[in-house]
Amino acid sequence: MTTVNAASDASVYKVEALIAEDIDAYLELHQHKTLLRFITCGSVDDGKSTLIGRLLYDSKMIFEDQLAALEADSKRVGTQGQEIDFALLVDGLAAEREQGITIDVAYRFFGTEKRKFIVADTPGHEQYTRNMVTGASTADLAVILIDARKGVLTQTRRHSYLAHLIGIRHIVLAVNKMDLVDYDQKVFDDIVADYRAFAESIGIRDFVAMPISGFKGDNITGLSPNTPWYRGPALMEHLETVEVDQVSDQAKPFRMPVQWVNRPNLDFRGFSGLIAAGTVKPGDKVRVLPSGKTSTVTRVVTMDGDLDAGVAGQSVTITLADEIDCSRGDVIAAADNPPQAADQFEATIVWMSDEEMLPGRPYWLKLGTQTVSASIQAPKYQVNVNTMEHLAAKTLELNAIGVANLSTDRNLVFEPYDDSRSLGGFILIDKITNATVAAGMLHFSLRRAQNVHWQATDISREHHAALKHQKPAVLWFTGLSGAGKSTIANLVEKKLARMNRHTFLLDGDNVRHGLNKDLGFTDADRVENIRRVGEVAKLMTDAGLIVITAFISPFRAERDMVRAMMAPGEFVEVHIDTPLAAAEARDVKGLYAKARSGQLKNFTGIDSPYEAPEDPEIHIDTTAMTAEEAADAIVARLIP
Ligand code: ADX
Repeated sequence: MTTVNAASDASVYKVEALIAEDIDAYLELHQHKTLLRFITCGSVDDGKSTLIGRLLYDSKMIFEDQLAALEADSKRVGTQGQEIDFALLVDGLAAEREQGITIDVAYRFFGTEKRKFIVADTPGHEQYTRNMVTGASTADLAVILIDARKGVLTQTRRHSYLAHLIGIRHIVLAVNKMDLVDYDQKVFDDIVADYRAFAESIGIRDFVAMPISGFKGDNITGLSPNTPWYRGPALMEHLETVEVDQVSDQAKPFRMPVQWVNRPNLDFRGFSGLIAAGTVKPGDKVRVLPSGKTSTVTRVVTMDGDLDAGVAGQSVTITLADEIDCSRGDVIAAADNPPQAADQFEATIVWMSDEEMLPGRPYWLKLGTQTVSASIQAPKYQVNVNTMEHLAAKTLELNAIGVANLSTDRNLVFEPYDDSRSLGGFILIDKITNATVAAGMLHFSLRRAQNVHWQATDISREHHAALKHQKPAVLWFTGLSGAGKSTIANLVEKKLARMNRHTFLLDGDNVRHGLNKDLGFTDADRVENIRRVGEVAKLMTDAGLIVITAFISPFRAERDMVRAMMAPGEFVEVHIDTPLAAAEARDVKGLYAKARSGQLKNFTGIDSPYEAPEDPEIHIDTTAMTAEEAADAIVARLIP
């Protein structure tokens, strides 16, 4: 979809709802101007669509044919007087967008003589946290719309909290529909005082309040005669002149996450990326993180040739004096003032998936150009976004915001989100579906990550295994309840014992009497069950044992997590494959009957999922062989 076209009449550009990829094309067009990204918060009732339409219209960035259609439509729906219904413009664009791709946030572009703008609009009556956070994540400024007749509402507080949380430092309180309260200064002042008290309570230090009417155009492009008591600025003037963060970013120490290594031929090796903060010049001493190696910048190259200096917000390729290791995901930083690296953090997490967060489950964590595996602990608390209250929570559901600790499998180069959005903001991705499930903001690294070190012991895992004359392994049985896991596992252990192998059998029902006594059968508890069993199995392989585990272990993600914990080749996944109907027909423990009658909730196969292995090392079809035969097959596979 082409979304921005330079029109034949050079003074107008076609404005459409855009998808993210088109932002670059637009920016190229307006390169000489500074950019302000902002978000409008409020519902349709507050006049949000009308205001956005008004901004687009007043900046003359609407294509003429759209304007003609708009005028016709406004007449048809019978707007009072001669006015154009600007809401129709925006809603029309929204309808256009809906035919194409489903996105939760629409980005609109417009420009004036002084500046270009990208406004993120989160459509729909309901302002979902997820949509707003997505739209706000790149914004420099938020326009919080208030209906002058209604004052500060719960949603005003929610929007302000989210805008502040996501790091927006410029807040405009637009008290709209002033025409409907006779441009009464007292109404405005009271609302501002109300808002100020709230804003201070959540840490918003500064905001600019203005009385406007999106519908009538008061204080939008110029000061309105209807509010002689208001001295400015008008909304557009403020948007055009407010100092954006890119400028202050340039004063910070240099940081550039490496997007890719540019090696067109043997004579050139450059590191490409977007400068997140600071400036860089040839001769600067830099440090590559996380390795910590240092070197000196030799060139700062762009498409248009070499630069004397690159600054925050620019995409550049830099070359270094030394041949040091540096690849995608590394961060090149000022040598004397580098960011930290750590693998345990406290963070705020905004959950964006219909599937609840599962503490302990590994997700991909993407921070800038770095991707690592991360698992989140149970939240310390959840925030009620309407009252800012802290609530106890075991998990986070769609649109929930919470604070939790998380750990990553490798060191992450980071800065607290408050200092750097690009090195402190991350997203979480489901490993199986590849969907983005959360956005997050790092607060700080946990001190314990720095203070707990791996203790080297003299008797190694190889030594333990050698004493037992065996190769450690984990036979990981998975399958439905009643599939025969415990029965076959027990036979396998007996056969191995007869062969003088040192084994240990971890069985679901047994472990749940002790170590995992505190866990039930919710998805979250099953994840934790398997995580703990995985850790125990890992310790047992370190001790040289052949471990046999018999747990339903219904989720692929956790089985894969345990696999990743073990040495290569040590994890042997054994699918005890019994069709649900057969397991249910046997119903040795009577649990299927209970589950069917509703007395037992979250029962695997009935109202809780089972994700069969896609490519297990061993597949046992229990309808085709006896338990003895199955055990023989497994042992033969392990000890050929
Ligand atoms: S797992 O899903 O977390 O891996 P685990 O193997 O430890 O489960 O425990 C499963 C055993 O617990 C079953 O064999 C059954 O005896 C018992 N059980 C009790 N309630 C449930 C339930 N809701 N779903 C599955 N198994 C249950």
